Amino acid sequence: MEIVHIAAECYPVAKVGGLGDVVGALPKYQCELGHVAKVVMPMYRTKFLMDNQWELVHEGNQHIGPHHFKYAVIKEKTNKLGFDLYLVDINGLLDREKVYGYDDDTERFLAFQTAVCDWMNKWQHLPDVLHCHDHHTALIPFMVKYCFEFRQRLSEVPTVFTVHNAQYQGWMSWDKYYLLPAFDSWKWGMLDWNKTINPMAAAVKCAWKVTTVSNSYLEEMRSAANGLENLFQYEQGKSLGILNGIDTDVWNPHTDTMIAKNYDTELVEKGKWKNKKEIAGQFGLDPDKPLISFVGRLVGEKAADLLPDAISQSIYQNHGNVNFLVLGSGDTAVENQLDQMKNQFKGYFNTYIGYSEPLSHLIYAGSDFLLMPSRVEPCGLNQLYALRYGTIPMVRSIGGLKDTVTDMGDWQGTGIRFDQASVGDITYSVGRALDLYNNKPDLYTWMRSHMMTIDHSWDHAAQQYIDLYQSLK
Ligand code: ADP
Ligand code: GLC
Repeated sequence: MEIVHIAAECYPVAKVGGLGDVVGALPKYQCELGHVAKVVMPMYRTKFLMDNQWELVHEGNQHIGPHHFKYAVIKEKTNKLGFDLYLVDINGLLDREKVYGYDDDTERFLAFQTAVCDWMNKWQHLPDVLHCHDHHTALIPFMVKYCFEFRQRLSEVPTVFTVHNAQYQGWMSWDKYYLLPAFDSWKWGMLDWNKTINPMAAAVKCAWKVTTVSNSYLEEMRSAANGLENLFQYEQGKSLGILNGIDTDVWNPHTDTMIAKNYDTELVEKGKWKNKKEIAGQFGLDPDKPLISFVGRLVGEKAADLLPDAISQSIYQNHGNVNFLVLGSGDTAVENQLDQMKNQFKGYFNTYIGYSEPLSHLIYAGSDFLLMPSRVEPCGLNQLYALRYGTIPMVRSIGGLKDTVTDMGDWQGTGIRFDQASVGDITYSVGRALDLYNNKPDLYTWMRSHMMTIDHSWDHAAQQYIDLYQSLK
């Protein structure tokens, strides 16, 4: 089958979070299964762009409302990522360093989606499926069905929409409707949710199939989806959950070039110790104490606002016999609070405010525990990386966390689970973690080596997506 993935992120070209990891890996595994999977994304001005070789495959003209723009599509020449990678260049809109966070994001992603449809409309053949990811590409299922320019050829191409995070829906006011390519105005209701143009809602209504990244999140969205609950309930017949995998070529403690010492299940103790010493050295921590880390966006969904209190209380309650490290960026208030705590808890807590791919690998390798108290977690990849690196995940029982981590009190448990995103539940879990670390060495050792052997690769999920596409033929 020929599958075209369309997304705003793709590792290692441009990544903000897990969406990038998924789009950088799933197509590769689909190609390994014998299919032709491609990725189309915006051409941001990233290092990957500068470091690689490209060929021009298409040039075209389009417009958003009265604003005409030229676009170009370039293709990476060497199949470096294991799939065909296409970047769409639109000067003045996409040629920025960051992926998101600009005032004109609505226009940027509208122009991107319009250009993608325009380009695909000119292909000599049609692909078997268009697979769109999250709200930045969520208008495509509508565009190919109802925009006059595209619908004649493209409406017959099946569309699949994957919800990676229903919190962000790409809302735009109806004043901006004229920015979309001309569409059948009888169908305005397909764009609308609560008197706003809601791209995510439009995709859920228009795509042939809707998926999300874990079964628990699929269920949860029916009662908590930032206003789209009724829609997810209504469309449940065409929706399904497919649990994300991880790219085991990138996330492999045995071969990872970003960590201080490679290891496998047999050498886990020594290997992790060397990595922990490296972290402790870099951050002024004590390698003899258990290290609990957090990696992620410092936002409400991840319950990052609870970290300052939970960390300080845990340090006091346990008389300083624990270390914490936080890698992340996001809400300025949380960033500042964590930054200030560095001095107060010198030797017990440290933080790196910012984004660092190599540091994240070192943290998964060198920490003893990884904390994820998320309020919302559609899948979560960090806990899967932690499992693969022998780092015990401490997770709130929600979404994908619930589907991938079992509690150490249960049969062959792989982590520590708690129910509430609250300081109390986190500090209680820290107590359980320290008890495991200090008093249950046999269980601790067994858990570590057992969790590293669990298969969370993409093999299974890549095939599940193929089965889904095939059902649309
Ligand atoms: P989300 O996509 O909601 O942010 P996921 O758990 O699916 O959450 O994926 C997060 C991804 O982003 C992981 O690969 C994680 O290592 C990475 N990540 C998040 N924050 C940072 C950071 N500050 N530096 C490096 N990597 C980060
Ligand atoms: C989103 C979710 C995260 C998920 C990722 C990849 O960013 O917040 O839980 O793992 O997408 O699907």
